[in-house]
This record gives sequence, C-alpha cells and structure tokens, in this order.
Amino acid sequence: MKALVLSGGKGTRLRPLTHTMAKQLVPVAGTPILGYVMNHISEAGIKEVGVIISPETGDEVKNYLGDGKRWNFSIEYILQEKPLGLAHAVFTAKEFLGADDFVMYLGDNLLSYGVKGAVERFLQERPDALIYLKEVDDPTRFGVAELDSSGNILRLIEKPKEPPSNLALVGVYIFSAHIHEAISKIKPSHRGELEITDAIQELINMGYTVKSEILEGWWLDTGKKDDLLEANTIVLDEYIKRSVKGNVDGASQLVGRVEIEEGATVKKSILRGPIKIGKGTKVENSFIGPYTSIGEGVTIRNSVIEHSVILNNSIVEGVDRLEDSLIGRNARVVKNNKKHKALRLMIGDDTVVEV
Ligand code: DAU
Repeated sequence: MKALVLSGGKGTRLRPLTHTMAKQLVPVAGTPILGYVMNHISEAGIKEVGVIISPETGDEVKNYLGDGKRWNFSIEYILQEKPLGLAHAVFTAKEFLGADDFVMYLGDNLLSYGVKGAVERFLQERPDALIYLKEVDDPTRFGVAELDSSGNILRLIEKPKEPPSNLALVGVYIFSAHIHEAISKIKPSHRGELEITDAIQELINMGYTVKSEILEGWWLDTGKKDDLLEANTIVLDEYIKRSVKGNVDGASQLVGRVEIEEGATVKKSILRGPIKIGKGTKVENSFIGPYTSIGEGVTIRNSVIEHSVILNNSIVEGVDRLEDSLIGRNARVVKNNKKHKALRLMIGDDTVVEV
C-alpha cells in the first residue's frame, strides 16, 4: 500500500493568504495541515508516499516535508504542472503508483481519526475503492453520494446544484490499480477538471466494487477562512495541554489550557485557553481569548484577540477587539484611533492594516 498526498492546486478560496503560501501549509494549532496528514499516513504503517506539488508552492511544501524520514517513510515529489483535477493528479502519479493499492489523501483535509482503520478494512475486504462519507450542512460544496436503503452507493456527483443527499465525500480514498482504468475513461467536468468523483462513478459503471463508510469523528476541509478557524478551534480543544516553556511575568494571568513555547514572553496580560503561543512571540498588556493560535516571532501589544489564527512574525497593536480573523505572515495590524469596534479580518502575508 502506497499513499498519494495532493498538495498542489490553486487555493483560490483562501486568498489572499494563498497568493504567497500553500494552503496545505497553513498552520492549525501551530502545525501545518499537511503535518496532520503525514502523521495519519505514518500511523497507518505506509512506507512509500508520493506528494503532488504545483510549480508555485512546490518548494515550500518540499522544505516542510523534506525526505519524510521524520515520519518513517520515503517521499517522492511529483510535479503537476497545472491543477487539472484530482483524477488528473492520480494520472500524473501513475508511474509512482504502479500496480499498487494506494491511499489518496487531500492535503487540505483534516480528520480526527486518520486512516489506519480504513487501510485495515480495505486490506481485509479488498474492494476497488473505499470511500468515506460524512453528513454536511452544505453538500453543494462537495462530491455527494446517493445511497440505497441498504447503504450501497447508487450514484456519486461532484458539487451538485441539487444534492440528492447531504452525504459528502471526504478527502480520503483508498483505491486498487483499477482506478487508472476508470480515469482513462472520464472527461473533464464543467469546471474543466478531471474529477475523482467521476472516476469512482466510472468504477461502479464498470462493475468494480466500491464500498463506503460513514466517517466517525470530525472532518474538516480547510479550504475557506471559517473552515480553517473551525479546524483551529477543534484541534486546540482536542490537543492543547497546559505547558509553559516561555516567560510569564507576575502581573499576568493564565487561565485553562495555555501552551507557550520557548522564548515567548508574556507581560501584564491575561491568556484564557485553549491557546497556543509560538516560539519567541511577545504578548504585552493584552487579552488573548480562547481558540487563538499565535505563530512564532509575533508581537501582540495593547490588544484583545479571540478565536483567531495569527501567522509568524506579524504585529497586532492597539486593537480593541480582533476576532474570527486569519492574519498572514509578516503582517501589521495597528489601530491608532479610539473607536471601539471589533475587527474581523482575513489578510495575507506582508500586509499593513492601519485603522
Ligand atoms: O474536501 C473533500 C472534497 O474535495 C470532496 O468532497 C470533493 O468531491 C473533491 O472534488 C474535493 O473538492 P475540492 O473542490 O475541495 O478540491 P480542491 O480543489 O480544494 O482540491 C483538494 C486538494 O487537492 C487540495 O489540497 C489541492 C489539491 N489539488 C487539487 C487539484 C484540483 C491538487 O493537488 N491538484 C489538482 O489538480
């Protein structure tokens, strides 16, 4: 069993952040999403991993993942020149995949339990595809499955305008080599992409066995700001423990599960967990509220922040209330006037906001 991780694509829905960084590398509770994906693949005991990269963000992805040794597997990088669809990514990786079964894991998907159980089931039952489904509020944003009364798949449709159910396809799939045959038969969809959903439908049409399972636990497609903030909330809730390695002065108060990395300093501030504060970050005269992840080398001064993700080396100063926000790297948010108003921002790297 191999794994194919999709870390190419355009990331248009997380712009402006993804003008300058790969969406799969946006950190959730201090760890890039791709890090969680790799942990899950490693837990499943997979030793050969192919990673689809794009010309724009490939180097950044390579820098983060390296040779894969830290996860106990080897990585082969596969360049997909253009984001022509998930099935096109599989086609691009054909040589790497050979005749092997493989787990396909979308690099911007976060799952609570990982893929170990799914791999075990696949190896026992040996279908040609095993897919995961999950009930969602807005199925029009996903691939959607229609099942019969005994739970067998009748039909799969990508981003339907009129969804036949609210069961979305989760971004983790396990395939036998027959998927290549199915991909060779499909045509680009109306959005111009070779859809993996269509390829799985083609497997069914060809009479191969496609099995599905309703996913237990949470699943998040981190493609948009609110999804990313939700992912941050869930992961902070689940993983953050109280751990203070940085320096907190006597005038500050830490409440609940607050994780502060080495070299960070907290002065005259109140921190209410779950919160993660990265290395070398300075917090001064501020209130940091629950569900906030602050990266490394950030400065927060005279501000109130809640339910937000702040990336490395940014500065937030004099902001009465910053909430539900995603702030890129090296950004500056500085408030000079005295009007009390909450800010809700989604700003990219290297941006300056003065209000
Ligand atoms: O998240 C689950 C959904 O993922 C499924 O329900 C849909 O059926 C499936 O088509 C997919 O939909 P998205 O529109 O969310 O896919 P997206 O374009 O965001 O791409 C998913 C990941 O794959 C992302 O990390 C980028 C990468 N990618 C995407 C394309 C189109 C590639 O590496 N190459 C590509 O050509």
